[in-house]
Formats: sequence, structure tokens, C-alpha cells
Amino acid sequence: MASLFKDRSASASIPSSTTPPPLYNIPVSSFFPVVSESLTWVYTTLAIILALLVLEQTVYRYKKQNLPGPSWSIPIIGKFADSLSPTLENYKAQWNSGALSALSVFNIFIVIASSNEYTRKIFNSPTYAEPCLVNSAKQVLCPDNWVFLTGKVHVDFRRGLNTLFTRKALGIYVTIQDVISRKHFAKWLADSSETHQPIMMTARDANMDTSLRVFCGKHIPDHAAQEIADKYWAITVALELVNFPLALPGTKVYKAIQARKIALKWLELAAHNSKIAMAQGGEPECMLDEWVQELANPEYKGRRDFSDREMAMVVFSFLFASQDAMSSGLIYGLQHLADNPDILAKVREEQERVRAGDYEKPLTLEMMDDMPYLKAFVKESLRVKPPVTMVPYRALKPFPISDTYTAPVGSMVIPSIYPSLHDESIFPDPDKLIPERWLDPASTANANPRNYLVFGSGPHRCIGLEYANMNIALTLANAAVLMNFDHKITPESNEVQMIATIFPKDGCLMKFSPRV
Ligand code: HEM
Repeated sequence: MASLFKDRSASASIPSSTTPPPLYNIPVSSFFPVVSESLTWVYTTLAIILALLVLEQTVYRYKKQNLPGPSWSIPIIGKFADSLSPTLENYKAQWNSGALSALSVFNIFIVIASSNEYTRKIFNSPTYAEPCLVNSAKQVLCPDNWVFLTGKVHVDFRRGLNTLFTRKALGIYVTIQDVISRKHFAKWLADSSETHQPIMMTARDANMDTSLRVFCGKHIPDHAAQEIADKYWAITVALELVNFPLALPGTKVYKAIQARKIALKWLELAAHNSKIAMAQGGEPECMLDEWVQELANPEYKGRRDFSDREMAMVVFSFLFASQDAMSSGLIYGLQHLADNPDILAKVREEQERVRAGDYEKPLTLEMMDDMPYLKAFVKESLRVKPPVTMVPYRALKPFPISDTYTAPVGSMVIPSIYPSLHDESIFPDPDKLIPERWLDPASTANANPRNYLVFGSGPHRCIGLEYANMNIALTLANAAVLMNFDHKITPESNEVQMIATIFPKDGCLMKFSPRV
């Protein structure tokens, strides 16, 4: 094409004779201004760009078909600006636009499901769609981490991990959780000042400490636990939906990879030490111990040979999957209790009954079983503010999500958890915190367990949900009896900050004082 322009411009010279040449002799190109070589390139480039933009819009409209969503996508970036600073309001608008709706971000075609039916369909169609974590996740977690397995290999591997969440194992974890939560509350009280302080980071630290001790017990030294906790924020921020994709020094993803390397080093050592301790006949004191002991059990049927690194990667995947979500659940739990004194009074009443006023006595699994009101509160708090609002999946082949719409292969299909948990027909007064709806066997909430999607659904449903529920419940139980907490309500307390999970925009400003 360029050479074609070149030939024409060469023939566009001014004739030497003053006699006008016959019209038929004038080259066509001489009617146009002389086109320089560089302009030729500009026109060519513009033509290509225009063609690509038209193609982009055509492909978008073809994929979107009849779905609600913008008729045209902003060239190249699509809804990138929205995804840079996502807000719950924007997502609500998208959910309200239809049970299935479409948008595009950097030419990734995205189908968002907002109804319970389509959301569950995506979660439960492993042959059509699989979870796709944000791009940075593979770099941070290591591509060979079990969380990226799919199909039967995933099911088999995951089955082996169920042993880490049996009732016997949870019984060990309760004891650890109780000790750690008390240690942190003593510190919160000692550090408490006259002014309200945001608890976002202090609660995250407490959670990290609990998880590391539950997973690794004494097999990880204090300074290492502290180092992992300190560096972990780098991992959280690298999980934002949109991040610079290359792990160049200084980028968030780069820093997260460095943090993971340090964490994995310590977790590998913990796995190694646990194997030695169990081989010497020690009693299991943490998750790794439970796992090592189970692998040595003659009745155990699954795979037995897990390297230190494999075990470390599993523990790291648990930290990765749990830290943000549990911190979110815990912080909203504290905020909800502080803002609802009638509910807090009922939680305390129940604690008084179960613990008979002895708040020094460590909590046990049996005592936790005897706290239905607290459990209902935790369930409700997670419903009103679900830590995970959506989970991205990718279509492996054309995916007929509804009778009238098939998502094209490669598109991102996103089941949305939030709308099902705020469905007015199932949860009347959906934004209101009403623990009692879970205590009434005849309530619409209990009649529709499929709507409770806080932990997802299907083959990738959260493996740690019992541990998470228990950890949040136990921490709140101890907080309620050991401390008075006063929440400073600001205009941003009920606004949601969306990172990988959700948090109160003002960081939840609290002031603690000893209760007894
Ligand atoms: C309140 C706390 C938590 C919430 C709200 C939560 C929520 C979720 C959700 C929505 C999923 C995706 C489910 C799906 O795709 O169907 C998930 C997956 C997962 N969660 Fe959790 N989670 C929490 C705590 C935990 C904890 C404590 C652990 C580990 C101890 C954990 C480990 C995992 C793992 C490993 C997966 C991936 C499972 C798989 O792919 O098979 N989560 N979680």
C-alpha cells in the first residue's frame, strides 16, 4: 500500500511547459496535494487503527448479543477507569441492569451474572468454566500451586485436604485461636488511646497471627511470623483487579513476589520441622502436624508423599485465600456489634450463659456449639457485608448460561455473590442486620439455603468455611466479653472500600476499654 502512494507522488511534478496538457494526459494524482512519504505512513497507520477500532466494536457487539450493557465499548480500554477504582454503587448499577449483563475491559469480554440461578450455574459448571484469579495471582502464588488445578486432579487433591478441617482438627485450632485472640486484645487495650483509631490493620495483624499459629504452630519462630505479617500487605495490594502486569522491580506484583518468597521459605521450614516432630511421636498441635500425622495413618487412602515445598504452598494458598476475607468478616463483625447495642447485649447474654461468668476459661469446640445466637449473628454479618462480592471465572468453551445467551469461549464470566444475599424476597429488609432470621426454622432465609453464597458453591466452594466461621465467631465472643468497644460513625463508615474484599471506607474507627 505504501509503494502505491509512493508511485503516485513521484508523478505529481509540475509540468515544465506552460501549455496546459490535454486533460486526459494529466495524472489523476496531480489533482491531490503532494503526499509526502511520512504522511503516507500516517494515513496508513490511521486506516489500520480505524479498521481495528471498527473490528473491536463489531466483535464486542457480536459477543454481547442481546445482553444489557453499553452498546459501544470505550475503544481499547473499555470500562478500565471503573475497574481502577471499583465502587459497590457501580457494581449495583451493573447488577440491576439484568440477570446477565456485559461489559469489556481492555478487550476482555466480561459477562456478569447477578441472579441466584445464573450465579450458581457458573459456580457449578466446571466443564464450561473455571476460576480465573487476577493475572497477578499466578505470579504471586506460583503457577504450580494446587489452587490452579482443575477438573478431576483438582477434586482429588482437594479431597486430601479435607482432613485438615475435620472436627478433630478444628478442636485443636480453637485452643490456638483462643490464646491468640486474648493476646491481641490485651495489646489493643494497652495501646488504646483517647481518640478512635482505625482497626483495619490491627485486626488484619491479629488474623494473620491466628492463621499462622493455627497452620504452623510452634514450627515457625515469632520473628518469622512477624516478618510474614509485615510483608503480607504487599500481597494484598497486588491482588487488586487491575495491576501493572509485568513484575518489574518497584511494581506491586514484584513486591508481592518478594513477600511470597520470604513466606514460603519459613513455611517450608515449618513443614520440615513438623515432619520431624511427628516422627518423634509428638502430639499434633497445628494444621501441619495434623496433616503429617494423617499421612502416616495406615488407614489413610490418599497420596502420602508431600514435599516440604508442596505443603508450604498449600499453607500459603490458605493464607492467601483467608487473610483478606477473614479480616473483612472480622472488621464488619466488630462494626456491626458496636453499632447494634441490642444485638451486642444478646451476644453477651449468651456468653454469660455458656461461660458462667468465667471469661478466663479457654473456649472449646463444645462451648462454641452452644452459641446459636453468636453463630446466627456471624452468618448475618457476612450476609449483609459479604467479604467476597464476586468471583471471576473463565469460559473454557461456549457456555450456554441461559436459554437465550451463550458466553463465548475465553470470556470472563462472573458470578456475583452480593445480589443473592440481598434478595428482598428471601431476606426482607435486606440491608438490615437481623440475626433472628437464621434462628427461625420457618424463615425464608432458612428455606432458601441456595441463596447463601458467602462461600461460593460447587467444586471450588471455600474449603476453609468452617474454620473461618469459627474463627470470626470465637474472636467476636472474646471481644464481646473482654472489651467495651465504641465505634465512631463517620459518613464513610457505611461506604464500602473494595480491595480484593470489602472494608469500611473509614477503616472502622474504634476505641477499646477493658470490660471487666
Ligand atoms: C470469611 C472468610 C472467607 C470467605 C468469605 C471466603 C470465601 C471464599 C469464596 C467465595 C471462594 C470461591 C468459591 C467458589 O469459587 O465457588 C473461596 C475459595 C477458597 N477459599 Fe475461602 N473464604 C474465607 C475464608 C477462607 C479460609 C479461612 C480459608 C483457608 C483456611 C479459605 C480457603 C479457600 C480456598 C483454598 C479456596 C479455593 C478452593 C478451591 O479452589 O477448591 N477461605 N473462599
